[in-house]
Amino acid sequence: MIAAKKRIVSGMRSTGKLHLGHYFGVLTNWVKLQNEYDAFYFIADWHALTTKYNNTANLREDVQNVALDWLATGIDPDKSTIYLQSLVPETAELHIYLSMITPQNWVERDPTLKDMTKILRTQGATDNSITYGLLGYPVLMTADIITFNVDYVPVGIDQVAHIEISRDIIRRFNNLYKVEYFKEPKPLLTDIPLLKGIDGNKMGKSFNNDIKISDDEETTQKKIMKTITDRERIKRDDPGHPENCEVTYQYWKIFGTEEEVKQIESDCRGAKLGCTDCKKCLAKKVNEYFAPIRETRLEYAKKPEVVKEILIEGSKKARIEAKKVFEGAKEAVGMYF
Ligand code: TRP
Ligand code: SF4
Repeated sequence: MIAAKKRIVSGMRSTGKLHLGHYFGVLTNWVKLQNEYDAFYFIADWHALTTKYNNTANLREDVQNVALDWLATGIDPDKSTIYLQSLVPETAELHIYLSMITPQNWVERDPTLKDMTKILRTQGATDNSITYGLLGYPVLMTADIITFNVDYVPVGIDQVAHIEISRDIIRRFNNLYKVEYFKEPKPLLTDIPLLKGIDGNKMGKSFNNDIKISDDEETTQKKIMKTITDRERIKRDDPGHPENCEVTYQYWKIFGTEEEVKQIESDCRGAKLGCTDCKKCLAKKVNEYFAPIRETRLEYAKKPEVVKEILIEGSKKARIEAKKVFEGAKEAVGMYF
């Protein structure tokens, strides 16, 4: 007998077009995993609302963009279940049960949430704009996870603290209702280190330092020309230090072949290669890499009804599984029906 595939679930907030941090940190991993696991990937539009509830004009467009980026990257609706969070209401109901049992101080202590709140405050958030929904962020994540009673959650390192809380909440559910109903899933991490933004800080949409999957060639080139290099290399004739070249050389290691990287390294040290030329070459490599992905994206963008259909069909499929798990959860709690 063939052993049943293990289940995984993961989501991404729909906050607009995705960047190379998402691509290398998460998406390439998801594409691989969909071959080995029974994978559920969802666009977390409710989670987007935790911070964008007062700015919903672009909500639909944001969902569409995430879907396009996923499909272009190779997330395949024939291999994995791609769905929209708000089309699986079982998750919202599970969230209610979880919200009853989650101690207030667990969510208040969530370090990831503290970071999010800090960022929001620098963007002008006040006490009244940080909401109950945002505080419940990890509880809703837990609901996402238990919706399919998964074994693993493939995420970037930045989400691990959330998943830890999810495991605690799940354990508490099982203990309280004396069931071993829900599995305590483990994070499944990629080994790719966090991709830096062009300014050397963590790549992030709100930091204005990202390169989007969907950027055109010219935009990509312009951004690559701004990447941080060896800060001590001032003149063209100064020998460079690739190990201190914070962004450009790091990108080379991702986009170049082993040979190319070696060549760049020695030419840089020998001052045979100036940073401007080095970046021009790199921009070409990056554009070559993303050309087929961007082409696929454009094709899908011409057919929004196809993309919509993929989300609707995926969500139907997801709901069938969600309903099975959901009934057992209500029974465990002891609900009348
Ligand atoms: N918090 C995740 C992010 O910001 C998105 C997410 C929502 C998620 N629910 C999840 C990830 C459940 C994994 C599992 O990217
Ligand atoms: Fe970095 Fe390239 Fe300049 Fe060397 S030549 S410091 S690797 S940008």
